[in-house]
Amino acid sequence: MWMESKARLPILLFEEKIVETVDNNPVVVIIGETGSGKSTQLSQILHGKGYTRSRCIAVTQPRRVAAVSVSRRVSQELGVTLGKEVGYAIRFEDRTSDETVIKYLTDGVLLRESLSDPELKPYSVIILDEAHERSLNTDILLGLMKRLIKIRPFNLKVLITSATLDGEKVSRFFSNCPILNVPGKLFPVEIEHSSKMPKSYIEDSLSTAIEIHVREPAGDVLIFMTGQDDIEKMVAKLEERIQTLEEGSCMDAMVLPLHGSLPPELQVRVFTPPPLNCRRFIVATNIAETSLTVDGVAYVIDAGFVKQRQYNPLTGMYSLDVVQISKVQATQRAGRAGRTRPGKCYRLYTSAVYDEFLDVTIPEIQRSSLAGTVLYLKSLDLPDIDILKFDFLDPPSAESLEDALKQLYLIDAINEDGSITSLGRTMAELPLEPSLSRTLLEANEYGCLAQALTVAAMLSAETLLFLGQSKGVGKKRKQTLSHLPDGSGWGDHIQLLQIYELWDQADYDINWCKDNNLQVRGMMFVKDVRVQLSDIMHKIAKGNLDVRSSNRRKEGQDYRALRKALCSGYANQLAERMMRHNGYRTLGYKSQLAQVHPASVLKLDDDGKLPNYVVYHELIATTRPFMRNVCAVESHWVGPILAKLDKLDIVKLSGGIKKVSDEKPLVENSNQPEDAVDIALLSDDRNAKIAAARERFLARQAHR
Ligand code: CDP
Ligand code: MG
Repeated sequence: MWMESKARLPILLFEEKIVETVDNNPVVVIIGETGSGKSTQLSQILHGKGYTRSRCIAVTQPRRVAAVSVSRRVSQELGVTLGKEVGYAIRFEDRTSDETVIKYLTDGVLLRESLSDPELKPYSVIILDEAHERSLNTDILLGLMKRLIKIRPFNLKVLITSATLDGEKVSRFFSNCPILNVPGKLFPVEIEHSSKMPKSYIEDSLSTAIEIHVREPAGDVLIFMTGQDDIEKMVAKLEERIQTLEEGSCMDAMVLPLHGSLPPELQVRVFTPPPLNCRRFIVATNIAETSLTVDGVAYVIDAGFVKQRQYNPLTGMYSLDVVQISKVQATQRAGRAGRTRPGKCYRLYTSAVYDEFLDVTIPEIQRSSLAGTVLYLKSLDLPDIDILKFDFLDPPSAESLEDALKQLYLIDAINEDGSITSLGRTMAELPLEPSLSRTLLEANEYGCLAQALTVAAMLSAETLLFLGQSKGVGKKRKQTLSHLPDGSGWGDHIQLLQIYELWDQADYDINWCKDNNLQVRGMMFVKDVRVQLSDIMHKIAKGNLDVRSSNRRKEGQDYRALRKALCSGYANQLAERMMRHNGYRTLGYKSQLAQVHPASVLKLDDDGKLPNYVVYHELIATTRPFMRNVCAVESHWVGPILAKLDKLDIVKLSGGIKKVSDEKPLVENSNQPEDAVDIALLSDDRNAKIAAARERFLARQAHR
């Protein structure tokens, strides 16, 4: 079956040209429609031409799902066991062996490998796949590759592949390297814009889907949704509506969800052909836009939205916004309908709305927190790489670099001149965000490493833990876990720890998870991650690990050492309680009002008050700023952090770069008595300033 379809893949028609160009050039850009065979075939072609004789081929993917699914497909095509000749490596999961010659890995894993081996010596070819996604990590790899090909001009080939990327721009970035275009679109796609504004994008998608099913000839339907919750809703509604259709009035139907948190065995269902006389409805996130190709699709329903996580470096706040897609994305989505026969794309927005779409999607590097990235680049310690002058395809904003430097300084990863400390170096070796790396190292000092490892592992898997919700957000967590430990009032980190410890006491019984509404897969993942983190800690602590820690070590009920370690790690994510309001104002960032997330287990004390100080894992903007995952800390731990904030000099930290923002210092006088803080002033005046700053920030981004 696959042999047939493989033979038709457009990229195979260009095999000779590709090999010749790669042989003669260190860097080649390959542009080809999604589904033309870039991800699955390029590695095999170069493998066939001897590029794996002494070294391996690495293919990076921005998405974990894609790394797993594509490597599985390639191992099948080559008739080998996955994990042998062909394997994959994603964070916390390595399925490669000594025999592996074609290795699919996430871009993050390749970055990590380059920490211990900056020349990436095991590889003869590095394919940066899906470069159009412009993931933060791929963008950094682009910069690193530029340097690496100068160091290894004779034994390294770099391929950059993309479905839609502006090839010229990347080619210029790599001294005008050749661009190969693989024409791929097989059949024309008719595009139909809606004539009116959509009412509800779920309802409109639903009625369009039913319309297609009733009226149009055979062919699968691909429906783009923004996230798991909407997908689940849509799948349920669609199934219900199909049930009500008169028996025999149309062909059979099958509704399949497709998103990143779907268990692997459910993900692969979309790659198996449907039974005869049955139409499939695939309800997907934008994962189906370019990274995964589903064959058989003839109809696409595109509501024009995507969920995007954005970070505002001025406020330290994340927002998960449903935003309009870009024109490039709209074209991509439509293209999915023409893979196997002429198709049709139903856009649920008017052509006037389409005209307002941004031309291209804003790269992730311009909407992310960069603390981890800056620490990574600093720890590479390459004499010719200066983070602030690092060669980016699209540079991040000065604000986000400053924000990263400030955070790293507060957690002692860099000193006041901006150079990396030995602590910072050690932190960079952990595959965690800097705040959690710092927490682990600190916990090791305080004798509570075992607990901190558990917390870090639980946070890494949080989205997989709690049943019946996608993001661990919302009140549900509190309800489903009402019978589970409550963090003894100290907050959510402690609760995560207590949950795991109970499971440990139940000897990791999977029924315990089921009884407690926790996902077995998620908890198993935590257990595995915990072991891996512990191994890495053993390596980097070089025997200096606090052996007193054991998983069941009994501490008092106040979890003081662990909370203190968390306080050090989250030094930049600190908030002080406001009088009267039971709300908080953030201290590490521009002061703003924030509430403890309703799902939190943090408790009021006997006087009905929340703790004076908390640290938080994330600040999320929904209806207002919410601190998600908070932990109570003690006032006298906070003093030294505030002192550090006070004398922080961002100009010095950035090695003397000009300060872009003409805003006031990052923190106002924090010694004011609480009563003196005028809440109305703070919320109006400060918030107005913050809003203005955010608008400027977004305006600048839109300009790029
Ligand atoms: O990377 P690109 O989008 O150019 O194409 P690809 O991922 O290499 O896909 C080439 C073909 O392999 C398509 O027809 C896919 O449907 C198929 N494929 C598959 O059946 N199963 C996978 N896990 C991956 C690809
Ligand atoms: Mg691909």
